[in-house]
Amino acid sequence: MDFLRIKETPKLQGSVKISGAKNSALPILTATLLSKNPLHIYNLPNVADVNTLLKLLEILGASFERVGENHIHIETLGVRETKATYDIVRKMRASILVLGPLLARFGYCEVSLPGGCAIGARPVDLHIKAMEKMGAEVRIENGYIVAKAPKGLQGAKIIFDKITVTGTENVLMAAALAKGKTTIINAAKEPEVVQLCEILLSAGVQINGIGTSELEIIGSEGELLDMQDIRVIADRIEAGTYLCAGAITNSSITLHSVIPQHLQAITDKLEEIGFGFEVGEDSLTLLPAKKLQAFEIITAEYPAFPTDMQAQFMALAMVCEGVSSIEERLFENRFMHVSELQRLGANITLRGHIANVSGGAEIKGADVMATDLRASSALVLAGLIAKGETNIHRIYHLDRGYENLESKLRGLGVSVERLREEV
Ligand code: EPZ
Repeated sequence: MDFLRIKETPKLQGSVKISGAKNSALPILTATLLSKNPLHIYNLPNVADVNTLLKLLEILGASFERVGENHIHIETLGVRETKATYDIVRKMRASILVLGPLLARFGYCEVSLPGGCAIGARPVDLHIKAMEKMGAEVRIENGYIVAKAPKGLQGAKIIFDKITVTGTENVLMAAALAKGKTTIINAAKEPEVVQLCEILLSAGVQINGIGTSELEIIGSEGELLDMQDIRVIADRIEAGTYLCAGAITNSSITLHSVIPQHLQAITDKLEEIGFGFEVGEDSLTLLPAKKLQAFEIITAEYPAFPTDMQAQFMALAMVCEGVSSIEERLFENRFMHVSELQRLGANITLRGHIANVSGGAEIKGADVMATDLRASSALVLAGLIAKGETNIHRIYHLDRGYENLESKLRGLGVSVERLREEV
């Protein structure tokens, strides 16, 4: 296995180009199962999760050509398989996103239960209940979701007890081919959900309420869709992570190919800490702070502060004056990075789902272990300010969601190398 060696880098400079959003690319790829025609997808991030899902789609019978590093041409008319097996789903739990499209298109599918991951149990009960509400018969057999809707799915009123991003996306895709109207109450409003709505709209699906928590979809009654070419939106979490790299070293850096309004909760929090911004059409320049103030965060659904940025801000809190408080409200176990940051010297106390971070402790390089995608990015940020060298192990977590990480960090002046563990 590889590990990353990062040397203390007190100041960053330069710019970084943000890639397409992993969490938009994933539902976009499964939505191609609804298409009657092949299509181009541009700005597709070349990261492990996207490539794993492409492999699953190929196993189901899809075919695609990689035209460029971030550009594919995909055709799913040849799909005949309807089983998403455990060996793939366990590697990438977002494979659950084939449930809606496969069920809507074929009236039958078997999808391995994703199981939990480091950050929590990650149940999919709301996805299953929604499919049943739309007329599917669903049972769990040997760890698989076995779903049947031989007469097709029926539009229904779906009220989500909890806001679920992939749950909303699964229902959107199922509703697109269902008979009649589906209303989703308490829908997720993340930019990635909005892009999926826009893609379905441009494919001829009638959708009202895009960007709100109440969506209304009129299904095509089983007709496959005329999907148009797609350009994946910029990754707001990757962008937020690089902003934190600039912030933790109190540097001025520029991000290109971003959508500033998707980053509002993140840039507002950084302004509260003491940073400024120059905002362009699709760029953001971070301006250094005179003093870094401690802050408070409570994670919540979009447009509030994103849980996917919680670990990165915990690293940043190590250099803010005073005690910062970070409350994680979405996942039950998203503090795996705390013990690793403490190994580097961070002064963090945990009370249930609240972490208090006292800034100013001396941070010294050490061997640390990545546990999940965003926790690993927090360790990279800590490595920038840790004295000496920091070795981050199990970086396959990072490779799931950060494209060309080393070269992007080097472009900002970071001394980083990817090495092989001695066996
Ligand atoms: C999406 O996960 C993202 N993944 C996650 O990003 C992100 O952290 C999360 O949304 C929250 O923003 C993708 O989009 C591929 P949820 P998702 O369903 O859809 C509970 C990353 O780092 N819940 O919105 O799986 C659930 O346990 C990843 O890129 C149920 O109880 O999250 C959680 O507490 C990590 N039953 C809450 O809802 C269900 O059926 C929100 O989960 C579904 C969810």
